[in-house]
Amino acid sequence: MRRLLVAGNWKMHFTVPEGMRFAEEIRPALEPYAGAVDIVLLPPALMLWEIAGLLRNSPIRVGAQNAGWEDEGPFTGEISPRMLAGWCDDVLIGHSERRQLFGETDEQLNRKLTAALRNGLDVILAVGETLEENEASRTEEVVTRQLTAALYGVAPAVPSRIAIAYEPVWAIGTGRAATPEHANQVMRMIRRLLAKALSPTRANDTPILYGGSVTPGNIGSLMEQPEIDGTLVGGASLKADQFVRIVEATAASVVASQG
Ligand code: PGA
Repeated sequence: MRRLLVAGNWKMHFTVPEGMRFAEEIRPALEPYAGAVDIVLLPPALMLWEIAGLLRNSPIRVGAQNAGWEDEGPFTGEISPRMLAGWCDDVLIGHSERRQLFGETDEQLNRKLTAALRNGLDVILAVGETLEENEASRTEEVVTRQLTAALYGVAPAVPSRIAIAYEPVWAIGTGRAATPEHANQVMRMIRRLLAKALSPTRANDTPILYGGSVTPGNIGSLMEQPEIDGTLVGGASLKADQFVRIVEATAASVVASQG
C-alpha cells in the first residue's frame, strides 16, 4: 500500500517565535496520527533549524519550501540542499509560487530535484496548470511537460523518495478547490506518466497529493478518490485545529478503505 502524506506549507508566514510556538502547540495533537500518515511541516527557511530541533524526537517530519541546485558557491540569498542534509527530511520543489513569482524554470527545477535527492532529501514535487491553461484544455499537456522535465535523468530506483503534488494554480489560496473527480483524473494521468518515465512499480508506490484550498470540509471527499494519497495544505496549515482535522480525516480514510 502507498504511504499517505499530509504536508503543511506555511509559505511566508509567522515570525520565528510564532512559528516555534505553533510547532510546539500542534506537535502533541499530530503525533497520534503519525503512524498512519506521514506528516511534514514546511516552515520558512529562517526557522527551519529551530523547528527541526523542536521535532527531533518526534515522528513529525520537517521540510524546506525551496532549495538551490548547487551544494555551495556564489549564490547570494540561496540555501543549498547540502545545508539541509542530515537534519531536514524533505524539500518542496516547483511550487507554483516559485514558478510564477520567482521565474523558476522546468530546467532549474530538474536541477533542484536532482540536487535534493543527491543530498539525501525526500522531495515533494509540485505541478499544476493555471486557470488559463485549464480553460484552454491544456492541463494534460502542461502537467506532462512539468513532470517529464522535472524527472529528467532521475533513475527509476529513486522515486520512492519522491511525492508528487498536483496543485491547479487556480485552486491555490482561492477557496475554490478542484472537484475531487478532476483531481483524481489528473492524478491518474500523472501515475501513467510516472510509469512511463520511471517504472510501473515506482508509479504505484509514489504518493500523489492534491493541493489547492484543502480544508477540513473537503478533505473527506478528496480522500475518497482512489488516486489521492494525501494533501499539500497552505492556508489551513496555519490554523492548528484545521490542520489537525485534515490529518485526522486522512488517517481515518485508511480505516475506511480497509473496512
Ligand atoms: P492553499 O495553498 O491550501 O492555501 O490553497 C496550497 C499550496 O499552495 O500549497
